[in-house]
Amino acid sequence: MTKVKELNIALLGLGTVGKGLVNLLNENKDEILNKHNAKINIVKVYERNADKLEKFGMDRALFTDDMQTIYDDPSVDIVVELLGRIHPSKEFIEGALKAKKNVVTANKDLICMHGGELLKVAKQNGVTMLYEASCLGAVPAINTLKNNFLGDEIKSIKGIFNGTTNYMLTKMTQEGLSYEDCLKQAQELGYAESDPTNDVEGIDAAYKLCILSRFAFGLDAQFDDISKKGITKITSQDIEIAGRLGYTIKLLAIAKCNNQKLEMRVNPVLVSNEHQLSKINGAFNACTVEGNYSDEITLIGRGAGSYPTASAVANDIMNFAHKMGDVGQRTLKKAKIEKDGQMKFYIRLSILDKAGVLAVIAKTFGDNKISIESAIQDKNDNPEVKSLIIVTHSTSSLNMNKALDKISKADVVQSVDSVLEVLG
Ligand code: HSE
Repeated sequence: MTKVKELNIALLGLGTVGKGLVNLLNENKDEILNKHNAKINIVKVYERNADKLEKFGMDRALFTDDMQTIYDDPSVDIVVELLGRIHPSKEFIEGALKAKKNVVTANKDLICMHGGELLKVAKQNGVTMLYEASCLGAVPAINTLKNNFLGDEIKSIKGIFNGTTNYMLTKMTQEGLSYEDCLKQAQELGYAESDPTNDVEGIDAAYKLCILSRFAFGLDAQFDDISKKGITKITSQDIEIAGRLGYTIKLLAIAKCNNQKLEMRVNPVLVSNEHQLSKINGAFNACTVEGNYSDEITLIGRGAGSYPTASAVANDIMNFAHKMGDVGQRTLKKAKIEKDGQMKFYIRLSILDKAGVLAVIAKTFGDNKISIESAIQDKNDNPEVKSLIIVTHSTSSLNMNKALDKISKADVVQSVDSVLEVLG
C-alpha cells in the first residue's frame, strides 16, 4: 500500500466558513483517507485571540496571530484564507505564496480585483492558488468551466449569483411582500448584512461574474467593465405585471462573448417562466452556461453558508492531494468590451390618458429602430394617469437609451418608472 499523503494546513479565520471546514475535515476524515489516501491536518489557526479556538474545542497550541510564524513553518503546505475582505488578506496571501505555500481562498472581492496579480506571484514561486469557493458556494462553477466545455466556444454565462437578493425577490413574488419587508426578513435570517449594499446593488454578483467570465472566455474581464443595477427599485407592481405576462423577475448576472467582444452586466431581468432560471427560488444560486455545441447547461445549488462554502474549500484542498502544482488558470487575453447589448426590454411608463399618446411613444421607438412586441395599459397609483407597459423585441441598448431619453421629455409622459431586461 502506498504511503498516506499528509497535507498540513494553516487556516486563516475561524468564522462561519472556517468552522464549517473544521467540521468537514473531522467528520469526513475516514472518507478522505479511503478516497484520496490522504490525511489533512490543521497545524496552525490564525485568529485575533486564542479563546475562539478553545470555544470551538480546538487545541490552543494551534493559535497564532503572527503570519510570519506560518511563512516560516516548513511543515505548512497550504494556507487556507477565510478572512474575507481585501486587506489584510491580500498581503497575507502574497506572503504565503512568496514563502512557497499553496493557497486556497474563498475571497471573491480579492480574486476579482487582484486575482491576476496574485496568480502571477504564485507562478513565480512555483505554487498554486485555488479559489472555487469564491463563486457560488458549493456550486462547482469554476471547476465546471475550467475542466469542461473544452472543445466548445462558450457563448454566454448567466445566472443567479446572489442568494440574498434571490431570497428577497422570491418572497416579493410569492407572498407579495414589499422590498423593505423582504430586506428585513433577509437580515433577520442572516442572509443580508446590516449594510446590504453589496448584495442589493448587484456588486457581490458582479465580483462572481468577473471571475467566472475569465474562466468561460479566457479574457481578462474587469469589475469596472460590468454594468450594475440592483433590485432596490423593483416594485410589487412590476413583479405582478411580469407574472401576468408569464415572467418572473430575477437579478441575473450575464456575460456574453461574441468575436472576442465581451458584454457583462448584472441587472434585474424578466425571465420567461419557461426558462430554468425562473424556477430557482429562495437563497439558491444557479449558473447557466451556453456552449455553441453543448447548448445550455445549468448548475444549481447553495451559494453561501458555512457547510456549502466549506465543501468548495475542501474540494480545492483535496486537489492538492493529487496534483500539487496545478496552474490554476489559463493565460488571459485582453478583453474588448461591448457596451451595446442586444436584448428585449420591459418598460413601464406613467402616461396621460388622452388621444395621440401612444402614437408619440410608438414613433419614438420606431425612429430608434425599436420594434414593440406587446403593449398593455394598466391602472396607476395616481388616478390622473395610466401605466403603459411595453415589451420590445430584441434591440440595441444604446438605441433604447436614446429613445427613453426622448420619451422621458415628452409632455404626455409623466415618468419612466421601470426599464428591465427580458429573457426568453
Ligand atoms: N451575500 C452572498 C449571497 C453570499 O447572498 O449570495 C456571499 O457572496
